[in-house]
Amino acid sequence: MPGLIVLGAQWGDEGKGRVVDLLAADAQVVARYQGGHNAGHTVVVGEHTLKLHQVPSGITRRGVLCVIGNGTVVEPLALVQEMDEVAQLGFDLGALRISRAAHLILPYHQALDQAQEASRGAQAIGTTGRGIGPAYTDKAARAGLRAEELVNFDTFAARFREAAAAKNELLTRLYGRPALDIEAMLAQLRPTAERLAPYVADTSLLLHQALRQGRHVLFEGAQGTLLDIDHGTYPFVTSSNPTAGGACVGVGVPPASIAGVLGVVKAYTTRVGAGPFPCERCDEVGEHLVKMGAEFGTTTGRRRRCGWLDTVVVRYAARLSGFTGLAVTKLDVLTGLPSLRICTGYRCGGTLTEDWPPVGYSLADCEPVYEELPGWSESLSAVRRWEDLPPAARHYIERLEALAGVPVDLVSVGPEREQLVVRRNVWR
Ligand code: IMP
Repeated sequence: MPGLIVLGAQWGDEGKGRVVDLLAADAQVVARYQGGHNAGHTVVVGEHTLKLHQVPSGITRRGVLCVIGNGTVVEPLALVQEMDEVAQLGFDLGALRISRAAHLILPYHQALDQAQEASRGAQAIGTTGRGIGPAYTDKAARAGLRAEELVNFDTFAARFREAAAAKNELLTRLYGRPALDIEAMLAQLRPTAERLAPYVADTSLLLHQALRQGRHVLFEGAQGTLLDIDHGTYPFVTSSNPTAGGACVGVGVPPASIAGVLGVVKAYTTRVGAGPFPCERCDEVGEHLVKMGAEFGTTTGRRRRCGWLDTVVVRYAARLSGFTGLAVTKLDVLTGLPSLRICTGYRCGGTLTEDWPPVGYSLADCEPVYEELPGWSESLSAVRRWEDLPPAARHYIERLEALAGVPVDLVSVGPEREQLVVRRNVWR
């Protein structure tokens, strides 16, 4: 199996980083295909907790080529800072490459993101405020600056001055905000560009070479299916395509190079930011999940909204991305809840549906229909084999498999690398 996509089946924060970190042990390449530093992937290696935003989660494995693909948006200043942090922990950046065609998030994108969010008032999306939407807007408008332009700073500076002047018009006239200091921004960007230039490459070519040689390539998604700009809970979405289709476009490889798609599912559901969330619980169950799951955003520190597992969402994600297997994370967080619920369908407009709401309805119009399952009280943290899980925990996973129609290959029972039950080798 040369190419394997790993992506989130819910609203992000499913624990993709730790799954990619695990699978990277048998991979030669890890490539990020969308998103920017709005993403937060936490990887625990021994005593180190790495909080990755733009650097692919394969960076913890020496010799693994780590690609930031053309479908991502790169914030150069934040990337250099992240690279420094990764290097300080002793990880090697020698095999990091940035696609020449990746668009840049520049300081004016961040200012615009924040101004636009403030102007939305009660309709705010709850973005991470990192400039993601405005950077992808410029890409689609054919007005963006790309990573390859960092290599020739004088040309970059001329284009930047022009773009920043136009953004200042927007910031001051439309949003009543102060203008940004263009030369100060350039002074900050110059050393950053020099630092990043050696990492900029034709990464599509590197990936083709690796795939031709039969290397294992992991395609790492950020955010999650329901934040997909086309298939998610629009407009409460991010500005890229985390679904599997985004991987080929986002790194420049043909569909035939993808042999498997692993959907990462948290054992319950979380969401950050605004937007519909039928299974959300604002009671003691929600409290338990926040507390036991440490559900605070890696990027913004925001408390995540929590609720029961929603298998309509997982089935929808499986339909869109063609999951060949699932990795279930944070099963241990459910320990201690006397009984559990899984959402099997929705009551929507007077009818029952097991699928995405019909035309004319959105998730906001749906009331969940639950199935009740027994809980367990045993700690899962030392479990490494399927047969050692409490029967109620196995039953929970088996119901998810049956309702999603996809086999569960991996189950995580804690944040450490080895706190994992492997049922099938996903590289097989
Ligand atoms: P943006 O991607 O910053 O524009 O934010 C759009 C929506 O996606 C907001 O609801 C964010 O909270 C959400 N979002 C963006 N990145 C992540 C992530 O990595 N995990 C979870 N939610 C995210």
